Amino acid sequence: MVHPSEGERPLNHGDITSAGVWLTWRAAMERALYGEGGFYLRERPSRHFRTSVSASPAFAEAILRLLTQVDLRLDRPPRLDLVDIGAGEGTLVSRIHALAPPDLGGRLRITGVDLAARPPGLPEQIVWQSTPPTSVTGLVISNEWLDNVPLDIVEQTADGPRLVLVEVETGAERLGPPPGEADLAWLARWWPLRHIGQRAEIGRTRDEAWVAVLARMERGRAIAVDYAHPVDNRPACGTLSGYRDGALVAPVPDGSCDITAHVALDACAAAFQPCGGTSTTLTSQREALRALGITGTRPPLTLAHTDPGGYLRALARAAEEAELIDLDGLGGFGWLCQDVG
Ligand SMILES: C[S@@+](CC[C@H](N)C(=O)[O-])C[C@H]1O[C@@H](n2cnc3c(N)ncnc32)[C@H](O)[C@@H]1O
Repeated sequence: MVHPSEGERPLNHGDITSAGVWLTWRAAMERALYGEGGFYLRERPSRHFRTSVSASPAFAEAILRLLTQVDLRLDRPPRLDLVDIGAGEGTLVSRIHALAPPDLGGRLRITGVDLAARPPGLPEQIVWQSTPPTSVTGLVISNEWLDNVPLDIVEQTADGPRLVLVEVETGAERLGPPPGEADLAWLARWWPLRHIGQRAEIGRTRDEAWVAVLARMERGRAIAVDYAHPVDNRPACGTLSGYRDGALVAPVPDGSCDITAHVALDACAAAFQPCGGTSTTLTSQREALRALGITGTRPPLTLAHTDPGGYLRALARAAEEAELIDLDGLGGFGWLCQDVG
């Protein structure tokens, strides 16, 4: 971290100097990921990192089972929504479209929501748009969306928290002005800073993004799946990271890599203040998927003798399931489930 020299002109939320463009991290992420020619408007995410969706079709099958449960809870409404926020390449919605039984399929309206363009080859029955539908009855799923919602970063100083500014061309950092009132209140509640030099990622933008989705739910369940950390165990140095071509790289916000930071899902959960009856659960992907029948159990060895091909297929499937529920990997992700209505 490079600190500003004594008497240096204070920067606002962004500035252009002869050396380069300096922005708050929130503005820099917005521009790098979703601005003109931004990473997500240009790249196929699966080229750069693996998500539960790309890791195995077992994930889509589990979400379909969940959708069936939600359908029953809603007494099988005439129109059942499945909305995937941050749908990326449309893999999850395509798989569910292909797998849905006729009884469900006839009532199902599937919508992929992403700032990226409609993926080529997506079945025409699937709606693709850049904002969530205005009214949803059914299931909303967002897998690794919130970690890509831009956010600001602060560092604690002797005078309190200061926004971290970043030079977009290099990723170099320096301190800017203090955060505003709303961010300070969020920090005090969700990420208290105790030591000079400690950093925090202000998840208020994720809370707002999540609440905006829930506000569109008539009845049903909304689920956010993401890297998460709880209020009593936030990482002291933050989690901001870059990914490119399958590798972890320095988070330089020049549009050349994904930039992500883990999600305070507990804050997202609390941000939704429902007026009707709701329930909230926050659990791990391991627990959530095991409840949906994903166990990673290997096939019996006897199958290798009676049906060698079937044995190998079942073994491969067990390995995929094991990856989805591995607590040191995807299984350690948080699942925030909120029921509305
Ligand atoms: C890490 S990718 C996840 C893709 C997919 N859900 C998966 O699990 O493979 C995050 C996606 O969220 C999308 N995204 C980010 N902010 C968004 C927003 N405000 N509205 C819609 N999509 C958004 C990005 O364009 C990107 O495709």
